[in-house]
Amino acid sequence: MEINIENKRALITCSSRGIGKDIAIALAKENVSVCLISRTENELKDLCDYIKDNGGKAIYHVMDLFINDKEKLNELKNKIKNEFGSIDIIINNANIIVSPKKLSLIDENDWYKTIDINLNFFFNLFRLFIEDMKNNKWGRIIHLISLTNYMNYSNAAYSTVKGALEYLNRNIVYDYSKFGINSNIITQGILDNEKLKKHFSKENIEKFLNNIPSRRLGKVSDITDLVIFLCSEKASYINGVNIDVSGGLSIVGMHY
Ligand SMILES: NC(=O)c1ccc[n+]([C@@H]2O[C@H](COP(=O)([O-])OP(=O)(O)OC[C@H]3O[C@@H](n4cnc5c(N)ncnc54)[C@H](OP(=O)(O)O)[C@@H]3O)[C@@H](O)[C@H]2O)c1
Repeated sequence: MEINIENKRALITCSSRGIGKDIAIALAKENVSVCLISRTENELKDLCDYIKDNGGKAIYHVMDLFINDKEKLNELKNKIKNEFGSIDIIINNANIIVSPKKLSLIDENDWYKTIDINLNFFFNLFRLFIEDMKNNKWGRIIHLISLTNYMNYSNAAYSTVKGALEYLNRNIVYDYSKFGINSNIITQGILDNEKLKKHFSKENIEKFLNNIPSRRLGKVSDITDLVIFLCSEKASYINGVNIDVSGGLSIVGMHY
């Protein structure tokens, strides 16, 4: 299948580790220039070098998504302008989960932090690049959310902001689709990656597996292949949807 996204320019939030990193590598393999953002410079630099050593084009920007720092945002805009010209693809992969889960117990700062990182940062980012996307008559926005939103063990702050992204997605589609800009959501299930192994015991993972209708954990490529497809012209009529990539887990819910 022809993908034809080479020479596009993507910004991926929270991309030094986890699925953000995997998405950046996958896009770079398709000759998309990638801009990486997170707080840890050495990880970003290593990833940038890795992508460049493999023939890709990458830059990074060290930034805490929590701090609404206009100067840092302008720095980001200028860096992108100088290196890439602009951005065509935004992967909103921000991820912060605070404990405890219950609304009445969440620390006030944690509540605001969750909203700032998972939602408000995207608001700022969108406004940095939307005019260029409109002028270019092309853009792709992909939000990554979690199926924990729909389950009874949800974290109140996290699910609230991830849920808000669903309504934001609809608004973007309503107002910007006529400029060739598509916005979609990917709901992730349980990915088989280092993070899972770090946070859950073998026994717990076994219980997850028994619960997932497809009887396997998500592969990184389940997500990265979909991201690439959604960015391509083949998916130009897929707009405003939330694609569930959980092996059916959202249908049955999590019981363990
Ligand atoms: N992993 C899963 O199975 C799973 C399941 C469902 C949904 N998801 C969704 O997938 C997305 C990514 O999750 P993940 O599990 O891959 O994440 P992750 O492994 O926890 O990675 C987090 C990334 O976010 C960066 N980050 C954290 N706080 C930051 C901050 N304040 N400012 C800037 N960068 C920050 C980290 O880098 P620094 O620490 O260097 O800043 C790192 O690059 C999220 O949208 C999440 O909801 C994941």
